[in-house]
Amino acid sequence: MTKDEKYSALMPRIQGLIGSGDTIADMANVAAALHGEFGFWWTGFYRVMDGELVLGPFQGPVACTRIAYGRGVCGTAWQRGETVVVPDVEQFPGHIACSSESRSEIVVPVWSRGSVVAVLDIDSREPATFDDTDRHWLELLCANLAENTF
Ligand code: SME
Repeated sequence: MTKDEKYSALMPRIQGLIGSGDTIADMANVAAALHGEFGFWWTGFYRVMDGELVLGPFQGPVACTRIAYGRGVCGTAWQRGETVVVPDVEQFPGHIACSSESRSEIVVPVWSRGSVVAVLDIDSREPATFDDTDRHWLELLCANLAENTF
């Protein structure tokens, strides 16, 4: 199965998982579904709370709990309001290494009512794991989540 086919099969399953009426429950199941399907190293959410990113539901090793606006890949995606794909974390100035195992990363902002309310962060132990296919599907997923959850 290509990556595109995997995402395309996973999306309807994920759609069925969101809209429970509770944001944390929805984010938890989305993180678990993505993590289980692709075997990423770390998959989870940070929520915008009182002007910083706070760790939300995730799958994988323990992670930093708070990230400031504009800091690291997550804070940068929040500040820019757009997806950030990092093929090699060592080449990203200010990357926050929650785990020394992480080699590449994608962070997708979740927009709701004109502002970023959370980010979806995924880390891989392989370099250059994420590309435009991931960006496309994960942006769609975050738009869907925002519509039904936030
Ligand atoms: N690497 C992220 C921090 C979060 S962890 O990867 C889970 C960053 O630079 O923002």
